[in-house]
Amino acid sequence: MQTLPSPSASTDFDMDDWRSGYRSQPNEYAYEIEDIDGKIPAELEGTLFRNGPGLLDIAGHPVHHPFDGDGMITAISISEGRAFFRNRFVRTEGYIKEKAAGKPLYRGVFGTQKPGGPLANAFDLRLKNIANTNVLYWGDKLLALWEAAEPHRLDPQTLETLGLDDLDGVLKSGGAFSAHPRIDPSCDRTKNQPCLVNFGVKTGLSSTITLYEFDPKGRLVHTHQRNIPGFAFLHDFAITPNYCIFFQNPVGFNPVPYLAGVKGAAECIQFNAKQPTRAIVIPRDGTSPIQTIDLQPCFVFHHANAFEADGKLYLDSICYQEFPDLKGAENYLEADFSRIPEGQLWRFELDLATETSQAKCLIERGCEFPDLNPQHVGRPYRYLYIGVAHRPQGNAPLQAVMKHDLTTGQEEIWSFAPRGFAGEPVFVPRPQGTAEDDGWVLGLFYNAERRCSELAILDAQHITQGPIATLKLPHHIPYGLHGHFMQNLVFNA
Ligand SMILES: [Fe+2]
Repeated sequence: MQTLPSPSASTDFDMDDWRSGYRSQPNEYAYEIEDIDGKIPAELEGTLFRNGPGLLDIAGHPVHHPFDGDGMITAISISEGRAFFRNRFVRTEGYIKEKAAGKPLYRGVFGTQKPGGPLANAFDLRLKNIANTNVLYWGDKLLALWEAAEPHRLDPQTLETLGLDDLDGVLKSGGAFSAHPRIDPSCDRTKNQPCLVNFGVKTGLSSTITLYEFDPKGRLVHTHQRNIPGFAFLHDFAITPNYCIFFQNPVGFNPVPYLAGVKGAAECIQFNAKQPTRAIVIPRDGTSPIQTIDLQPCFVFHHANAFEADGKLYLDSICYQEFPDLKGAENYLEADFSRIPEGQLWRFELDLATETSQAKCLIERGCEFPDLNPQHVGRPYRYLYIGVAHRPQGNAPLQAVMKHDLTTGQEEIWSFAPRGFAGEPVFVPRPQGTAEDDGWVLGLFYNAERRCSELAILDAQHITQGPIATLKLPHHIPYGLHGHFMQNLVFNA
C-alpha cells in the first residue's frame, strides 16, 4: 500500500489484477471474521450493508456488463470489537428461474442477451428486476433497490428474501423506485425527525417524476408528480430542505437496436455534446413551479450533496465529459480506461432568481461514489469522502479513498494501490461526536494479492495514517455498488 500517489504514476495497477475482482461469487457465507489487522473501535456498533452484482455470469454465460449481474447483499455486523460476515443473493424471480433453467432467460439493460442471437432477443422487452444497486434499512425494513422496479424486502438478520415490497401500497406493480433515496436528517413534515425522500421516473418522449417522502416508520407523508419534456436518464438526485434537484443528462435514446435484439436498452443511449445538461429544480412543497437551468454538457450518475446558501442552490456532482460507455470494447473486462472519460467532482451554483449557473471543478482526479456525514445531507458541509484513482490524472480504477475539505481544498488520501481496488466509502459518525469529521470511513476493497476482499476502517480525522483495522475475508466479494451503515443494528453468525 502507498499513502501518497506519485504524480508520475502511470502503471499503478495491473489489468489482470483489476479483472480478477470481477469473478462471480456463487457461495453464501455466515461466520465471525477472525483475521483482523489492528483493532476495531469499541464505539463502532452496527451493520454495514452493501449491494452489488454477485454473479458475473448466468450459468456459465458471462454478463455483458457488471450492472446486469444478480444482486448479492453483503452484511458485516460490528459489535464490541468483533465482526460477523454474511452474504446472500436476493432471490428475485429472475434469479430463481434462471437457476432452475441453467441458462439466461432475460435480457439485461446493459447488454446481456439471451443465447440465440437477435432472433431470440428481438422484441423481448421484459425487465429482469435484479435488485443489485443499493440496500437500505428504513421503516423496520431492509430493502434491496433497483431503480426500474419495486424493492425486494429482506430479513435484516438472515438476509433471506421476503419478496417484492410495494411500500404498503405506495408502488404499483413494477413501479419504479430509485436506488438512490436521500435521508433528510430533519424534515418539517416529520416534526424534525429524519425522512426518506425518493423518486421513480417513467421516461419516453416526455418524462414523469414521482416524488415520495416517508417518515421513520416507513409511512408515506408526501407525494407529488411532475412532468418534464424529453427523455430523462435519472439515476440519482439531490435534496435540500426545500428542493429536489435532478440533472437531465444531454442524451437521446434510439430504441431500434434494443427492439431488434442487438443491444441492451442502456447501450442505446446517445450523448449529445451540443445540448446542455439541464438542472431540474422541483420544490418539495409539491405545488410551486419547477425551474430549469441549463448547464455545461456533461453526464452525471451521482450527486454528492446539495445545499441552500446566500439565496442560491449549490450542487456537488460527479461529472463525465460524455456518457462513459465501453467505447466499443466487446467486453467490459477489455475496457480501455484511456478511452473512457473519468468522473470529476464539480460544484454548480444555481441562481434561481436569474435562472443562471456557474460551475467549477473541485476534484480533477478520477473519482466516484461520494459520501458525507449524514447529518449534513441537504445542508452546508465541509467534508466529502470519495473513491478516487491512484493516479492524479486520467481514467483508472478506483484504488484509494479521499477526504476532501471543501472549505480549504485540502485533500487527504489513503491508497490501496498497486494491488488493492476500492469502492464506495461510507462515513459513520462516532456516537456523541460533534465535529463533522468525527467518525470512521468504512471501505470494502479488493486485494488482488490475496484475491480476497477486506473491510478497511479508517479514522476520518486521520485518513493518511491508513486503516486502524483491516478485516480480512477468506474470499472475495465482486466489486459492488452502494450500501449503508445502520448504527446499532447488529447480528451474529
Ligand atoms: Fe448509483
